[in-house]
Amino acid sequence: MAYSQPAPAAAASRLSAKAATFTESVIREMTRLAIAHGAVNLAQGFPDFSCPAELKDAAKAAIDADDNQYAITWGAPAFRASIAAKVARAYPGWDVDPDTQICVTCGATEAMIATMLGLVDPGDEVILFEPFYENYGPDAVLSGAVPRLVRLRAPDWTFDEAELRAAFSDRTRAIVVNTPHNPTGKMFSRAELDVIAELCQRHDVLVITDEIYEHIHYLGPGGHIPPATVPGLADRTVTVNALSKTYAVTGWRVGWTIAPAALTAGIRKVHDFLTVGAAAPLQAAGVAAMGLPASYYTDLAAAYQARRDLLCDALTEAGFGVSQPSGAYYVMCDTSAVDPDGDDVAFARRLVSEIGVAAVPGSSFFADPADGRHIIRFAFPKREETLREAASRLRRVRAGR
Ligand SMILES: Cc1ncc(COP(=O)(O)O)c(C=O)c1O
Repeated sequence: MAYSQPAPAAAASRLSAKAATFTESVIREMTRLAIAHGAVNLAQGFPDFSCPAELKDAAKAAIDADDNQYAITWGAPAFRASIAAKVARAYPGWDVDPDTQICVTCGATEAMIATMLGLVDPGDEVILFEPFYENYGPDAVLSGAVPRLVRLRAPDWTFDEAELRAAFSDRTRAIVVNTPHNPTGKMFSRAELDVIAELCQRHDVLVITDEIYEHIHYLGPGGHIPPATVPGLADRTVTVNALSKTYAVTGWRVGWTIAPAALTAGIRKVHDFLTVGAAAPLQAAGVAAMGLPASYYTDLAAAYQARRDLLCDALTEAGFGVSQPSGAYYVMCDTSAVDPDGDDVAFARRLVSEIGVAAVPGSSFFADPADGRHIIRFAFPKREETLREAASRLRRVRAGR
């Protein structure tokens, strides 16, 4: 008989074609190495300080009140209403209907993949700015989209308008914007968003914008411009956000999308079958988060600015070429002076095992690893004492050269 079964062992260990195309997250791998070596973990972007007491109290009260069963799949009504109210306070004129335009998800991560799966077809092109947050590549693969990369260039991490124009075609379905931007700290300007708006209208393209660092920036009031508020983009923008970074609860896994009703309907359907919903008592605590006063956000930005300055000074002193971020909580560094070999992965491993500081090799943020070989990224959502400990360890980098 010509027909033969594949050997059971080989079949059992085979990955799907999609899963086989991407590797394990390097960021999570560096976190594991940091634990193994007792290193200060400036790799993964999670705070090592407490979340606001209001959130903890509200979560505990919700559990005690037996708010422990499934919430409505696209989000508890009170939480959706509080998100809409907070958006209206932060960005007057941006009106969100909590009944039809919000889908609560398990973090920004699920918000992004539910959006891609709900709105993008296999073969559609999706424009990504490079360097990019490492999830966007696998998100594109999982949804069958074809990524089109447009480079953000140092020192101000802007894009070349002609290059962006050339990336748009009748195959383009969406462009992913991330502002404030991980890993560069770039904030998209009004002029840049106007160019994106013109191109998206001309080619009938969606904007999927990840604004998880919306309140963590150093430009002062009005510095962050949500693409959904840019003329021409309101009816074609999906805004992705989460409690994770703003309220120091990355482990809670509560996020959301804001989008026109027709787009939200697609996201909600996918979300329902992916996860059913985010944790009900933590959505109740999300209401408390959305109710925090404006001063919470000013204090947050000021605290992050002090952390940024401390780490940037230490890195400069250690011999790194520092690119000072305007937003988010990462510093991209040029390692040419401290790692003449230009092997970012080997350098990051040495940094963990010999210096005791974990960071992320630059190749994680580029499609071609060679483009990141002189780059390393440090995260600074940490207590002052943690950053001071990292700073004192980093002094040995310069000494060791
Ligand atoms: C740009 C960006 N989007 C999304 C996420 C993940 O968000 P969440 O933890 O809410 O899934 C991160 C985390 O580092 C991020 O940097």
